[in-house]
Amino acid sequence: MTTKVDPWADIQGKVDYDKLIKEFGTEKLDKHLIERLESDAKKKGMTLHHLIRRGIFFSHRDLKWILAEYDKGNKFFLYTGRGSSGEVHLGHIVPWMVTKWLQDVYGVELWFQITDDEKFLFKPELTLEESNRLAHENALDVLAVGFDPKRTKVFIDTEFAGTMYPIAIRIAKKLNFTTAKAVFGFTNEHNVGAIFYTTMQSVPCVLPSVIAGRNIPCLIPYAIDQDAHFRVTRDILPKLGYYKPAALHCRFLPPLTGPGKMSTTGSAKDSTIFMSDDPKTVRKKVMKYAFSGGKDTVEEHRKHGGDTTVDMAFQWLTYFEPDDEKLLDIKRRYEAGDLLSGELKQILVDTIVPILLEHQKRRGEARKAIGDCLIKDNKWNG
Ligand code: TRP
Repeated sequence: MTTKVDPWADIQGKVDYDKLIKEFGTEKLDKHLIERLESDAKKKGMTLHHLIRRGIFFSHRDLKWILAEYDKGNKFFLYTGRGSSGEVHLGHIVPWMVTKWLQDVYGVELWFQITDDEKFLFKPELTLEESNRLAHENALDVLAVGFDPKRTKVFIDTEFAGTMYPIAIRIAKKLNFTTAKAVFGFTNEHNVGAIFYTTMQSVPCVLPSVIAGRNIPCLIPYAIDQDAHFRVTRDILPKLGYYKPAALHCRFLPPLTGPGKMSTTGSAKDSTIFMSDDPKTVRKKVMKYAFSGGKDTVEEHRKHGGDTTVDMAFQWLTYFEPDDEKLLDIKRRYEAGDLLSGELKQILVDTIVPILLEHQKRRGEARKAIGDCLIKDNKWNG
């Protein structure tokens, strides 16, 4: 099965990330850049984020340039986003965790877009009311990741459209339908809102520059499926006198059931771990659905050991267990047959449950902070 990776595809099967680097024309996140990030982290008394260390963030565009500008005193801002089509799950927070890390290391602003318009336009059954309601719910999950509220702006497209629209139409005027069709695969059956939408996702790349009245570099951490939008953005923005946005790309968190991208719809839904799940539910899902690389019988497993390359409990630990030594020890014990599949799954449960509980606590607190972070169009007071 070939795996198509684009913003609206349901991604199934194994993804060849090296191939995507070539196909999309991005650059591999190499040793030198990783060392640079590590040395910047050290200056803040922090360590290199394990998602970068382990190659889960694997590709970039213009990261070198962004850091060179930073060195010259030309600080960048971070931009990322979320489409409000459902509840936030563990896969979503993977890029957000590194976005937070970057915010802490570089002390920069984050502009976070929530696209209730996009999901309304692309999901036939979703009403705008529901997408907007979800946007407000999702905003709490964004803050729960721990972004610095003083340096974080969250905006929901339909509530910030007055500010965004003049920029969106300037971008739209530079994007013809032939290009949009080639990049996104639009057909005559797509609604015209869906075709226009990509310009709304470009807007935050320049919004802080427009507001400040000077060009500010932009760095966007995102899962690689969003790249099509920013390939278009990077072509257009220089024509309007702005910098191209830089990017940092991560892999998807594969579903517990096997390779691909975790989803909130379809058959994958039952095995998805939501940020709101309680410990009992997490345990049930992991035990029932996590694809095992263990052997069929305990006897065989003890003798030959398990396969960590296909075992989803282990694969997930590479995302959520930050301690390298601990991870290596688990790998050794599982491959040697000392650890059984059920025991490995229990380790995963014990690793993600505290992450979820912490998230749920912070999400509750976010209800107070959200008022300061959520920006909207100025209301007309007459
Ligand atoms: N289109 C994204 C989604 O469907 C949401 C989004 C908007 C986004 N702006 C972004 C994601 C910037 C990453 C970076 O989830």
